[in-house]
Amino acid sequence: MIYQIYPRSWADSNGDGIGDLPGITARLPYLRDLGVDALWLSPFYVSPQADAGYDVADYRDIDPIFGTLADADTLLATAHDLGLKVIVDLVPNHSSDQHPWFQAALAAGPRSPERDRYIFRDGRGPGGDLPPNNWLCVFGGQAWTRTTNADGTDGQWYLHLFAAQQPDLNWEDPQVRAEFEDVLRFWLDRGVDGFRVDVANALVKEAGLPDWDEPLHLLGDVDGLPHDHHGKRPPMWDQEGVHEIYRAWRQILNSYNPPDTAGYSGDHDRILCAEAWVDDPDRLARYVRDDEMHQAFNFPFLQTSWRAAEIRDAVTTSFTAADAVGAPTTWVLSNHDVVRHASRLGLPVGHPRPNGIGIGDQQPDAALGLRRARAATALMLGLPGSSYLYQGEELGLPDSTDMPDDVRQDPTWPRSGHTERGRDGCRVPMPWRGERSSYGFGPSGQTWLPQPASYADLAVDRQVGVTGSTLELYRSMLDIRREHGLGAGSLSWLGGFPDDVVALVNEPASGERVVVITNLGAEPVAVPAGSLALVSSGPLTEAGMVPTDTTVWLSA
Ligand code: NOJ
Repeated sequence: MIYQIYPRSWADSNGDGIGDLPGITARLPYLRDLGVDALWLSPFYVSPQADAGYDVADYRDIDPIFGTLADADTLLATAHDLGLKVIVDLVPNHSSDQHPWFQAALAAGPRSPERDRYIFRDGRGPGGDLPPNNWLCVFGGQAWTRTTNADGTDGQWYLHLFAAQQPDLNWEDPQVRAEFEDVLRFWLDRGVDGFRVDVANALVKEAGLPDWDEPLHLLGDVDGLPHDHHGKRPPMWDQEGVHEIYRAWRQILNSYNPPDTAGYSGDHDRILCAEAWVDDPDRLARYVRDDEMHQAFNFPFLQTSWRAAEIRDAVTTSFTAADAVGAPTTWVLSNHDVVRHASRLGLPVGHPRPNGIGIGDQQPDAALGLRRARAATALMLGLPGSSYLYQGEELGLPDSTDMPDDVRQDPTWPRSGHTERGRDGCRVPMPWRGERSSYGFGPSGQTWLPQPASYADLAVDRQVGVTGSTLELYRSMLDIRREHGLGAGSLSWLGGFPDDVVALVNEPASGERVVVITNLGAEPVAVPAGSLALVSSGPLTEAGMVPTDTTVWLSA
């Protein structure tokens, strides 16, 4: 169980309205009490914050808004004392344009070794006025920006699959490879337990950078597009060359993971987790072959809509693909890039997955969304495999869907020409206490994004110890999951239910089997005779049946 902390938005210790490392350290006992095994921190490195820290200017230091290296050491030590592992975010596809390497590349001029560390090209057409190819940026607009020469004339173009402040590194350059291997060692030496690898599918581009006519999306395709892109693979995604990079990294991790001499202690299991936008489960599984990464996010599950057949299909294909390479499956429903599942599932079934929701957009049904989100989470946590939770989902937080557009900070909003609102709605600071100001986020009333009024009743202190609260539901499920060893169980589908019911058995090798039933249909369903409810995402009917949009775990 890995809990994602978005450092800007978890806890602010100094009152500047932005979360920081000392704030996180002070709140770590909350995670121990929640019952997770590890936390993953989104980037905390030195960064101009053009993409909330995913634009790194120094991979070996902490940005002053988050604290210092000493604060990172304290966080690591405190987490370890509490029995929590710490995974950090690594951003190897691109650096910040303020990184010394990029500044040196601009200064050195065309065809220099400094420029070779990035992807600079001459423009096409008369005067090189056209970008080198037609690639589009994930956040909107074109993926190339033109430079200006020292004498003021127009210069070469550089590639950025994300914002213009995030130039793509050239992974054909041995210096780039050596640098990141060193960065891995730097953090492993400091004691981190692993890395979440940002857009791990993008590092190597197809030779010649051929044109590609389709837009690029966060997490992969928009729902509904064929996984095979009509038989073609995008020249910037999932190229064969990425795998040798991860094989080399695995060797480094292995050198920090000496086998336990006195049996398995869990002290030496540092991991790599791929954020790879690869929709085809068999292609995704190639990132977790036994000499590459340990885990990869499973986004097709997140992209599934609230339909039983789709969910069953996503689960089966995930297991089939992961089993083929002997890797564990992972599950995730929310993160800092998508509308939270409590809001997503409050939109009509089949509604395209929005990239942000704002004033004037169709608003989710909050009660329905929360009910389905709790049922979806209970289904996810009932599955074997490793799950990633996103901060605040344990409170049932919705996205902020009525944020004024002028406070938005995601570059997606301006870059898309104000057509896609982007990801600010899921990044709003955590409510720890039910009263203003800042709902206990920090000592001042400031928050870098406004918190919606609905966060008052969802705050941590309003839910701790309250029977039936979402927080207590998560705690119970994590408890039972650990006690029964469900993460390492094996799954089989349970027959005899209507089509709109997902019913399964999770059978741990040692431990008690648990039956999980999620009812997506209109009518309540009966549970198998003689079974006993362990936990349910909402109340069962008086007759002990599972109502609509409810998941129950049963011992049977
Ligand atoms: C994926 C990250 O999750 C997202 O937040 C970021 O904008 C892009 N990669 C670019 O680094």
